[in-house]
Amino acid sequence: MTTDKLSLIRPTPDLATAFHQTILEFRENGELNIESIYDRSERDFSVYQQFCLDAETGKNLPREFVPQTTFWMVRNKQYIIGISHLRHYLTPGLKIEGGHIGYSIRPSERNKGYGTQQLALILKVCRLFDLTKVMITCDFDNIGSQKIIEKNGGIRSGEAISPRTNKLVYHYWITL
Ligand SMILES: CC(C)(COP(=O)(O)OP(=O)(O)OC[C@H]1O[C@@H](n2cnc3c(N)ncnc32)[C@H](O)[C@@H]1OP(=O)(O)O)[C@@H](O)C(=O)NCCC(=O)NCCS
Repeated sequence: MTTDKLSLIRPTPDLATAFHQTILEFRENGELNIESIYDRSERDFSVYQQFCLDAETGKNLPREFVPQTTFWMVRNKQYIIGISHLRHYLTPGLKIEGGHIGYSIRPSERNKGYGTQQLALILKVCRLFDLTKVMITCDFDNIGSQKIIEKNGGIRSGEAISPRTNKLVYHYWITL
């Protein structure tokens, strides 16, 4: 576990270049789905940021999205380590796959405990949103994510087949 100062922030133009570099790192690692809304914004930071702001209040949401808040986890206020989303409520689709929270850690910073710390920080935010329990889903073969959830108090409660990938997805709940 690192002792660096970690915090969650909303997307900010102050770190637009750092964010661009972070996205490139995911893409170079073959991860095209992570924060794909940035690509859909043609990598124009102001368009991306407006999407994030609108999504918080449910404005201009893509189909099947619910209102969500985007957070970056930053080290020492400047280096982006991870990206996460807090979905404000569940839909039948999110109860099968997606849950309340989605998260990722940039490839070069994995296996250093950051994923576990990022979820812990998001759970603190969930309490501010007056949520009393949250659902997280995870592919059956995503061992890293399963460990992150369990280390943060997640209890496996069920499973489903993803209509998107046809893979088995595990369901967890965390009581806040
Ligand atoms: C899953 C992910 C968030 C893990 O982040 P991370 O920062 O590497 O996680 P941590 O360092 O906190 O590791 C937590 C535990 O999982 C283990 N772990 C991490 N990656 C692993 C892997 N690929 N295979 C097996 N174990 C793994 C770590 O060794 C650690 O185990 P320990 O608690 O026994 O020490 C990261 O790999 C990622 O962003 N993946 C792509 C997006 C994704 O899958 N998001 C989750 C969707 S549910």
